[in-house]
Amino acid sequence: MKKIVVGCDHAALQLKNAVIRHLEERGCEVTDVGTYTEDSCDYPDYGYAAAKKVADGDADAGIVICGTGIGISISANKVKGIRCALCGDLFSAEMTRRHNDANMLAMGARVIDEKLALQIVDTFLDTPFEGGRHERRVRKMMDIENK
Ligand code: RB5
Repeated sequence: MKKIVVGCDHAALQLKNAVIRHLEERGCEVTDVGTYTEDSCDYPDYGYAAAKKVADGDADAGIVICGTGIGISISANKVKGIRCALCGDLFSAEMTRRHNDANMLAMGARVIDEKLALQIVDTFLDTPFEGGRHERRVRKMMDIENK
């Protein structure tokens, strides 16, 4: 996964900037959809903007961050084609790639520290989807969008 879109709200600006630096060090091409200041803003705007880029194929994956990661992940998951996983540990980050083929990662800047967040990013980006029986389950998840 090379092209990564990132987004955050005011609660997560510092962590998002650390994630961007880390992604660039990894050689990723990063698109930052904002927010760009610590002025209070609304996380759905940035969850949507990042998710749209992934859904449209403009990015291989997305990383979105708010205070808890909850609001921005719920917002991203409203966009058709998105499987955004909120992760606060390495096991979840690995499993959501292996089993759910998550195409977006959400994290909570008020929940985890920077060191763990960057490890979660690496695990998420480095873990491939297992396929096999999980293909069917992912397809069933996505079929719910059309019901
Ligand atoms: C903003 O104060 C906070 O509500 C937001 O960052 C996030 O935690 C929402 O889920």
